[in-house]
Amino acid sequence: MSLARSAWRVVSVGRSGAVAGVHGHGAIRFAAVAAILGQSPRNRPLLGGQAVHPARHFVTTTEAELRAPIEDSTTCSTDPMGPKLLAPERAQLGDVVMLRDMKSGKRTLVGPLTEDGAIKSHAGVIAHRAIIGKGARAQILTHKSHGFMLHFPTLEDYVLFAPRTATPIYPKDAHAVMQLLDLSPDHHIVEAGTGTGSLTLHLARVVSGGSGGRILSIDLRATHTTHAENFVSRFRRGRYRDAVDFVTGDLGEVLAARYTSTSRVVDGVVLDLLNPWAYLEAVSRVVKPDGAIVVYVPNITQGIKLLDEIRVHRLPLVFDKALEVTQREWDLRPVKIKWPEMKAGGAAEDAAADVGASDADGDVGAAVLEPKAGGLSESEGDAADATRSASVDSSASGEVVPNAIATVAPAAPRTGLPTSVDWICRPVNYATGHTAFLLKLKCIAWGEA
Ligand SMILES: C[S@@+](CC[C@H](N)C(=O)[O-])C[C@H]1O[C@@H](n2cnc3c(N)ncnc32)[C@H](O)[C@@H]1O
Repeated sequence: MSLARSAWRVVSVGRSGAVAGVHGHGAIRFAAVAAILGQSPRNRPLLGGQAVHPARHFVTTTEAELRAPIEDSTTCSTDPMGPKLLAPERAQLGDVVMLRDMKSGKRTLVGPLTEDGAIKSHAGVIAHRAIIGKGARAQILTHKSHGFMLHFPTLEDYVLFAPRTATPIYPKDAHAVMQLLDLSPDHHIVEAGTGTGSLTLHLARVVSGGSGGRILSIDLRATHTTHAENFVSRFRRGRYRDAVDFVTGDLGEVLAARYTSTSRVVDGVVLDLLNPWAYLEAVSRVVKPDGAIVVYVPNITQGIKLLDEIRVHRLPLVFDKALEVTQREWDLRPVKIKWPEMKAGGAAEDAAADVGASDADGDVGAAVLEPKAGGLSESEGDAADATRSASVDSSASGEVVPNAIATVAPAAPRTGLPTSVDWICRPVNYATGHTAFLLKLKCIAWGEA
């Protein structure tokens, strides 16, 4: 029996032991699984020219899952460019995954997935087994039938939502660090302290492409080293782990033990520890001439202390730049307007209809504006704030941001869809701005200072 790939989009094994394929025309066909898996590989049916393979072509499923949005697990593995270095196709034992509450949008990291693990949420329990075998955007139900959507965490999610042993360098700062280092895949970088492993993972992802780059990550505390090692190993099935040498010890002592005083082989150093000025001389002995030392300091006073250390001790370092990395995230949401006097040109009902479509996907939460005795609805405070004034105060900077509500007209609306929709657009009400300062120093030759 040959199953043409064009005709079959998903093939899976149900708990009942039935093999199900979703036919291109929508019909569902069943065959006995034993008849297929009991065959030697040579006699198994063909799928896209290959013998059907239990691990590759089948996932455990329930009937409800067959009704869920179709996921084609074959699209990634048949990519002519080779295996994708992105998220895994399907969750498996040991993975850390992200579950997004389809009602509130709240996200939670789950894992590593185990045979008998489970996660308890406000809306019920999900056994890890219910996640294993599922692909991205699959719907996972709690025992109370509350829906979560499965995602494979991005590096940003992974860092922001993971439990912490130290204060991590946040993704926005990690990216600025890489920019200041001018990081490239063949670089040899020294990092101290390792802390949670957040920055380590960002650095490792760049140098792990097989171009010979390496990260030496040093921390005084063995517990931090172990935690960070696990943290790096569990992301994307450990694909960046081999690029890192984790070492427990004092930065100065490790550098003295690893490098001779004349071997300036390190392309760059990142310092995120309590007293970075105490280690400037040690690092300036190992960094290549013109190589960068990036120092993370919580306030600018410490930045000055760092530069004064260089001046007083005539260290072979020069100040290059200081960076404060601010990032302002914006909230963009379609808004439902539920009473006539607030309608903009009769667009409200249309808007509500369109928003409803977004809700079904579980992706976009709509703000609802509706009247209430004596004022606007308390529960809809977000949207209400935005409409009360024509401008809102961005709490991070005190800067006034105009046009909290905007109406847009799509250039070519699909038949039956509204010609205009009202949108809330304003900065989010939680701080994503300042965290610290990054100082970049450059190494020069000894005696040049
Ligand atoms: C703020 S945390 C680093 C956070 C890390 N950058 C991250 O992304 O998670 C500071 C770390 O420096 C380590 N540390 C302090 N003094 C050190 C030293 N002399 N040598 C090596 N590590 C040190 C601490 O144990 C701590 O884990």
